[in-house]
Order: sequence, then C-alpha cells, then structure tokens
Amino acid sequence: MSAATPSDDESGLPTADDVLARIDTTVAHPARRYNYWLGGKDNFAVDRASGDLIAGRFPAVPAAARANRAFAGRAVQYLARRGIRQFLDIGTGLPGPGNTHEVAQRIDPLSRVVYVDNDPIVLAHARALLIGATQYTVAYLDRDLRDPDGILHDEALSSTLDLARPVAVLLVAVLHFIDHPEPHDIVARLRQALAPGSYVVLSHGTADFLNEQDRAALPGLTARDATGFYPRSRDDLLALLDGLDLVKPGLVSVRDWRNPDDPGPFSAEEIGVYGAVARIP
Ligand SMILES: C[S@@+](CC[C@H](N)C(=O)[O-])C[C@H]1O[C@@H](n2cnc3c(N)ncnc32)[C@H](O)[C@@H]1O
Repeated sequence: MSAATPSDDESGLPTADDVLARIDTTVAHPARRYNYWLGGKDNFAVDRASGDLIAGRFPAVPAAARANRAFAGRAVQYLARRGIRQFLDIGTGLPGPGNTHEVAQRIDPLSRVVYVDNDPIVLAHARALLIGATQYTVAYLDRDLRDPDGILHDEALSSTLDLARPVAVLLVAVLHFIDHPEPHDIVARLRQALAPGSYVVLSHGTADFLNEQDRAALPGLTARDATGFYPRSRDDLLALLDGLDLVKPGLVSVRDWRNPDDPGPFSAEEIGVYGAVARIP
C-alpha cells in the first residue's frame, strides 16, 4: 500500500470513506466507464454520459469491453495451466467476475497476484479484490503505471512476488490511456525487471480499422475525460513486444485469441482491440 491515508485494519488499505474524497465525479474515468459498459453499478452520471456518447458512435464498444475482459481471463488461465504462479495486474479495474486472482487461484490456490491501479474508485473497492484471498497471496498497490520503478520497488510487491522467478505482467486495456513515448519505456523497464520465462499479457485499443471520419472524431469523444485515449496500430504494438516470443496465435483481436466460444455479432474490426501473450526469453 502506498501514498494513501492510514489503514484501519490489517489489509493495509485505507477505509472506503477516506478514499471518497479523492473521487472526482466531474469527469469520466476509464475504470468507471468500463464498469458501465460491462453492466456494473460502480459509475457516475458523467461516466454513463461519456460511455453512451462513445457507444453512440461505436456500437461495438460494450461488446469490446466484454471481449477484452474474457481475453484477460483466458490469458490468465492459459498461463496458470502452464505453471505461472505469479501475476502483476496493472490497470486492474473494478472487481467483477473473473478477477485475476480468482482465475489463477482456481488452478492453484497459492497463486500470487499484485493488483495496481491509480484510480481511487478501484482503491475503494480493493478490499473486495482481496476477499477470499489471504494477505500473503494478494496485494493491492495504489500506484501509477507511468512510474514502473515505484511499482517494482513497492514493499507490498516484494513481499508478495518473487521477481527472481517468472511473473506474468498484465497490461490489459491500460496502455492506451498513456501517451507516446511512455508505453515503450514502461514496457522496457518492466521487461528488464522480470526473470526469463516471464510473460507480458497485452490488450490495446486500435484505430486501424476506422475510416477517416471516425478516426478524426476520436479525440473529441474523450476530450474532457480524466485521461486521454491513444489507440495504437498493429505495428506499434508489435514494436512494443519486439524481442519477446509471441504465444500463438500472436497479436490478434481479443475476440479471437484462443477463444473456443461464439465470438458474438461484432467483427474483429468492429471490436477494435488487439490482444497478445508474449514470453520473455
Ligand atoms: C479499461 S480498464 C481495464 C481494467 C482491466 N485491466 C480489464 O481489462 O478488465 C483500465 C484501468 O486502467 C487504470 N489506469 C488507467 N491509467 C492508469 C495508470 N496510469 N496507472 C495505473 N492504472 C491506470 C484505470 O483506472 C482502469 O481501472
């Protein structure tokens, strides 16, 4: 736990009341808007208005949120089945069905998970993320992805994960909230800190399939948000993963990554989110 008001119990987390003061309901926040698209209740009028505005222009967006969430679950399951027991989930989002520790601990109850998010609403719900898990296997960091060293050196991380052994880092639907050139530096720093045999799980919004008009409309749709939105091309994302071994089928739509189920009514192009799992050699 870091940079927050004092804890009221052994979880190391501040009380939900203490965190409320940090919650800004005047601008849309990605965690809350994503929760709205997923059918959750942890969002405010400003998030719903923004969510409706975006979905009005891009009707596949709520389906893309569901496809992204399902991709994350399949990726964690895939890695847990191959023996990965440590997960660093950065840009956690609000708790919901299929949280990383639930998926991983279904395969091995001793799997360890560190969650990281910079949104106070996620912090306010962090206890829910820890429910059912012991304080030794799951931790929550109130930190920003733009400070990877702060994350890597946090005491709660070192007491939960052993960075000398393989870790899967989840960067699922989070890097597209970070402007160029930081994603490159962030991924490079994380890679450098991880042991060989570690993995990066990446998902990221793209404008590759948008026509010129829709592409030009994007900045206006998120102009007043707490964060900008920075879609990236397939080539940009392949460059981020350069030097890593892509797990088959490679960088594809989150809709299609090792998905045995009905992909639903929207095409991969309409979903517009790439996903990949890559191994650090
Ligand atoms: C769209 S949600 C994705 C949640 C989850 N990873 C998933 O895919 O289901 C993006 C999350 O990233 C978090 N986030 C955005 N920018 C961040 C940053 N710079 N540092 C840490 N978390 C960030 C948001 O607060 C939000 O919870």
